[in-house]
Amino acid sequence: MKLGILAAMREEIASILGALEQSHQTEIGLRTYHLGTLHGTECVLAYSRIGKVAAASTATQLVDRFKVDRVLFTGLAGGVGHGVRRGDIVIGTELIQHDLDASPLFPRHEVPLLGVQRFITDVLMNEALFHSARAIAETKCHSVHSGLIATGDRFFSCADAVEDLRRLLPETLCVEMEGAAVAQVCHEYGIPFSIVRTISDSADETAVADFPRFLKTVAGPYALAVVEGFLRRLSR
Ligand code: ADE
Repeated sequence: MKLGILAAMREEIASILGALEQSHQTEIGLRTYHLGTLHGTECVLAYSRIGKVAAASTATQLVDRFKVDRVLFTGLAGGVGHGVRRGDIVIGTELIQHDLDASPLFPRHEVPLLGVQRFITDVLMNEALFHSARAIAETKCHSVHSGLIATGDRFFSCADAVEDLRRLLPETLCVEMEGAAVAQVCHEYGIPFSIVRTISDSADETAVADFPRFLKTVAGPYALAVVEGFLRRLSR
């Protein structure tokens, strides 16, 4: 297995990088790709930056140039599903681009010419992620949820916008800005992938204060713990 690991925040990358062994790095297109091993697994770690285009271009390099055979994205998200709270962990079983609308030429949310609205993540990777996430969340009395993640080029910081999204896609557990873009790249290349998100805020007016606070204190340690637990379980 050669695992590509992506994160959209420097804090998460820095934390995982601290555990990467025998690492060396390569710079391509404003990105640094760190190659090494993590718990005996060959990994390529990259900071995707923020948003769908940034994430898609980084994922493409991981697959096409570095020949990873699986991709894991770890990051933060705004909780919008009922019962999804700050500190909870969400595993995306399906990813959708909430801001994609080429109607009436194509159905809303369908990726033109691909015929897909929702990208499906890998069952085995999700299982390993779930056990890893649960071990971490339980120690803090948080929950782990599995379901739909909605991606778009928008930071949600408004309760009205969250209500609009809930009306449109009622099963959405959380919102973020990269997952479905990585999912589309992996789908097109036939690479198994999974997306895990820790809830940093509730995507309403409080998100502007909660997100940076969470990023500073929790994002790094959580990202490392989730990835390490995931690798331990996957390699069993
Ligand atoms: N990632 C973390 N919080 C988010 C929010 N409120 N909106 C979009 N992406 C996020």
